[in-house]
Amino acid sequence: MKNVDSKSHVRGESIYLDDIALIEGTLYACVYDSPVAHGKLNSIDTKEAENCAGVVKIITAKDLIGENQIGGILPDEPLFADDEVHFQGMPMALVLAETEEQARYAAKRITAEIAPLEIITNPREAFAKNHLIVPPKHFKLGNTENAFKTSEYVFAGRADLNGQEHLYIETQGAYTVPTEQGGMKVYSSTQGPTAVQRCVSRVTALPMHQIEVDVTRLGGGFGGKEDQANAWAALCAVGTQLTKRPVKYALHRMEDMRMTGKRNPYSANYKIGLDKNFKIIAYEVVFYQNAGASADLSPPVLERTLFHCTNAYFVPNVTATGYSCRTNLPPNTAFRGFGGPQGMFVIESAIVHAAEKLHVPASEIQRKNLINDGDEFPYGQKAMSEAVTSWTQADEKFDFARIQKEIGEFNSKNKFIKKGVALMPICFGISFTKTPMNQARSLVHIYTDGSVAVSTGAVEMGQGVNTKIAQVASTIFSLPIERVKVHTTNTLRIANTAPTAASAAADLNGHATQIACKTILQRLKEVAVPLVEAQNAEDISIENGFVFRNGERTDLDWLVLVNEAFMQRVNLSEHAHYATTGINFDWSTASGHPFAYHVYGTSIVGVTVDCLRGIYTVDFVKACHDFGNSMNISVDYGQIEGGIVQGIGWMTMEEIVYDESGRLRSNALSSYKIPDIYSVPKTIEFVPLKTKRENPAIFNSKAVGEPPLMYGIGAYFAIREAVKAFNTENLPAFDAPFTPEKVLMNLYSETVKEMKAGK
Ligand code: MTE
Ligand code: MOS
Repeated sequence: MKNVDSKSHVRGESIYLDDIALIEGTLYACVYDSPVAHGKLNSIDTKEAENCAGVVKIITAKDLIGENQIGGILPDEPLFADDEVHFQGMPMALVLAETEEQARYAAKRITAEIAPLEIITNPREAFAKNHLIVPPKHFKLGNTENAFKTSEYVFAGRADLNGQEHLYIETQGAYTVPTEQGGMKVYSSTQGPTAVQRCVSRVTALPMHQIEVDVTRLGGGFGGKEDQANAWAALCAVGTQLTKRPVKYALHRMEDMRMTGKRNPYSANYKIGLDKNFKIIAYEVVFYQNAGASADLSPPVLERTLFHCTNAYFVPNVTATGYSCRTNLPPNTAFRGFGGPQGMFVIESAIVHAAEKLHVPASEIQRKNLINDGDEFPYGQKAMSEAVTSWTQADEKFDFARIQKEIGEFNSKNKFIKKGVALMPICFGISFTKTPMNQARSLVHIYTDGSVAVSTGAVEMGQGVNTKIAQVASTIFSLPIERVKVHTTNTLRIANTAPTAASAAADLNGHATQIACKTILQRLKEVAVPLVEAQNAEDISIENGFVFRNGERTDLDWLVLVNEAFMQRVNLSEHAHYATTGINFDWSTASGHPFAYHVYGTSIVGVTVDCLRGIYTVDFVKACHDFGNSMNISVDYGQIEGGIVQGIGWMTMEEIVYDESGRLRSNALSSYKIPDIYSVPKTIEFVPLKTKRENPAIFNSKAVGEPPLMYGIGAYFAIREAVKAFNTENLPAFDAPFTPEKVLMNLYSETVKEMKAGK
């Protein structure tokens, strides 16, 4: 079934923030942001800007009626810089003007006197100076100290990972409109309408019931609008509060890149111990997370790095430590996988390191250590594992040995073109690791024309959640999908929402919708009993618009039944609540059962490297993926393809560059390369995992939003294989992304050494 938005998307009729019709009197906002990464703010001079044409008001920290604070987890993020600036791009003042151009022109006329302070951009340096956002996080299983003593082989090393720019097609933005009696309506491009509502309430000192947040859809979020949409909504809200006029701010691309945080970069130390059969018996890892200037979501992102630090493997003795390090960069944040992919990359690096030293294929170590049913993750949960089944089914379908053999033959015949292949098993836990966030609500109405309206807490951002929610209602009521409309996400209709994140939106909101629909359906069946002369409601079913009695179609149709219910004053609306059962986690012991279930899969990734130029193509990604019982295979394929390409981009070409002054050098699409149509693998081929196992997801269909991104990690290791096939002397450092420049340097690493030696 098609995505319910496909027609309006293709026609350009879908509504994004920038498409909302503006109310007369709307002001435009523009931020004056810090030109330095760290310093003491002595004064801001707004005089010249105030005199610019069209300027209505300039707002700084001292003007706020509410709190100058937007930090959700820790109160460490002022909306406007007050006594210090912490990163380049930190908002210092807001200009409100009659036109967008006037606001931007005036913002450039603001100056500030800032006394420079020491700038730190590197997480290891921040760690050495004890600049930690939160106390360190630890996971421990078994006893690594003893296990290393009994290990036959021990290898230690370092892995580094860069961040990733979200590059949602729609930049951050908000539009705030005053409502009567001092209230406010906030349109926001956010994954978390309640987070926006809470944040606006804080900076304006308005109670939450005075603030309505409404979201039609996002042009992508990818985690970047889970927390980071708040600031722009808060800025507009403050503008509306102080001017009593609507305020709009939609960031330009370069502003967005400069001022917003990205995927957290990491640096890590690992140590891996294997027995003589290549079973991993000990793993020790320390993560230095680059959090940027404030907590944002970095602490829970770091937690998920620890949750996924052993990927799809069972390791009986694990010690994992995470440090969230404060640096003078824009606050980094959630990004598809939420820290999980970073954890996985490091153990994959450790395995490849061991394989190279032991002269065995990495896939042999990977396969031998896949997690089995009943094995324990380092956080105490016992696995219901599909790791081996997905590996086996992928191998059956794609024949790993044949692919590896063909590539070996190709490489032996070609000098300057080399191919590489890598296997990438994945295992990703589904549920917010903060248990209270795993709740959702749905409001369902049936109108007297028989049509159905649904509102939930889920935000549509291209991932197809509205299609899945519409499918839930249309399935329960047995109506065509056109009879169901999923409406905007709105805090007046659905309160206290969890953000649309953790791949759990369809699960949580789909379940709530299922409960609401079933409740109304039961009422309708009871209305139908006397009308079709049945004994009781159990004898009634509703299929394709007709009432059935004991499996036989009657003449009573949906429309008549709905109107009969209305005439009898039966409630045709329901507001239902769903909370995932059976999950818990206790950080005091760092153990519990945090995930409702895990998503598994195994991919094989093949690349070709041009060894004269250092450029490469990803030839194929083939995988056996655990969809559960997919609700919508075409939507899920969209998630798979998009996720893989985004993962490949992160691992191979997207390179964020901050210089030592904390200035973003890769600040536009000319200097930050994302995958284009030519970088998409020629073949992306999937087989759904075959399993009889039930899972607690909606309609037995597993979450699909984030896990496929992690298949992209295979591209890194496949390129590495190709590079090693050309330059057999060199073992490249584990340092992602593997950009063409780095590939070229590694292909000719002797030349590099000679260059360094001044030859
Ligand atoms: N797909 C599209 N097209 N756009 C997005 O912004 N975000 C991803 C994923 N897929 C995203 C996407 C992220 S980070 C998450 S957590 C999930 O979608 C969230 O939606 P879900 O819970 O409905 O899967
Ligand atoms: Mo997704 S990173 O959980 O928004």
